[in-house]
Amino acid sequence: MGKFINQLNFKEKVVLLTGAAGHLGQNFAATLAELGANLVLVDHEASSLKTLAKRLQSSWGIDVKIVTTNLEDESERDKLIERCFSEGKIDTVINNASFVGTSELPGWAVDFEEQALDAWRRALEVNLTAVFHICRDLAPLLSESSSGGCIINIASIYGEFGPDWSLYKGTKMSNPAAYGASKAGIIQLTKFLATTLAPTVRVNAISPGGIFRNQHPEFVSRYEKKTLLNRMATEQDVSSALIFLASDMSKYITGENLRVSGGWGLS
Ligand SMILES: NC(=O)c1ccc[n+]([C@@H]2O[C@H](COP(=O)([O-])OP(=O)(O)OC[C@H]3O[C@@H](n4cnc5c(N)ncnc54)[C@H](O)[C@@H]3O)[C@@H](O)[C@H]2O)c1
Repeated sequence: MGKFINQLNFKEKVVLLTGAAGHLGQNFAATLAELGANLVLVDHEASSLKTLAKRLQSSWGIDVKIVTTNLEDESERDKLIERCFSEGKIDTVINNASFVGTSELPGWAVDFEEQALDAWRRALEVNLTAVFHICRDLAPLLSESSSGGCIINIASIYGEFGPDWSLYKGTKMSNPAAYGASKAGIIQLTKFLATTLAPTVRVNAISPGGIFRNQHPEFVSRYEKKTLLNRMATEQDVSSALIFLASDMSKYITGENLRVSGGWGLS
């Protein structure tokens, strides 16, 4: 490999990825594996994690560990953190697990007046508190990384923008208040961590726009009109940004929130 492309070499790195069994998580894991990263995959979906780990190990010959855990539970997070210390090396943490618009919990993706305090609390616990907890406790391990520690927090355009309700008319889709509030928290936490953990750990966020997953056709066509690039995102669009921020290509970048949104909200 030439010097420039060598910046994309992850062979010596161990990357911890939460929400690894999800749509974006699986794409992140596969892209990192292709570039040689060793992975610690975290989720509460045990069987999808196992299948993913087997596939990546046999395709790319990397080391993959899986941790089945509920990130909503503080003591389970403590166990995950202990396990990371006992393994001894983590170079990069990607906080991707989240309650999302399609998550099924009572009082979540419903009309505003029906949104439940319990759903709000649970979402804040997983989407924001767990990220704080993991970053605070793994920071010493990340600081020891010989390639430079790195944290990437997956936020959302809804951490910066309110929902445009005209998109949702005639669909069963919604956009819970706690989702955007937790993602706004992630964007601020990213800045806090960047100034606090510099210069040994870089910390950045990615804010994806809506990813195309065969949503209601009217939603898709209204959504596309709101982007400058006339389409919804793909998982690969977000993985490309992730690789940039996780690799040495961005070694002078910290504290940023990179929108991968096709220019949503600019016009
Ligand atoms: N899909 C989009 O359009 C979109 C847009 C912007 C941002 N994002 C962000 O991207 C990230 C991934 O989203 P996705 O679309 O792949 O969602 P997804 O639901 O497919 O993946 C989320 C994963 O997190 C895991 N998870 C949730 N709660 C957990 C818990 N308590 N413990 C352990 N694991 C848990 C789920 O099991 C799932 O595998 C999220 O942070 C989301 O907010 C997504």
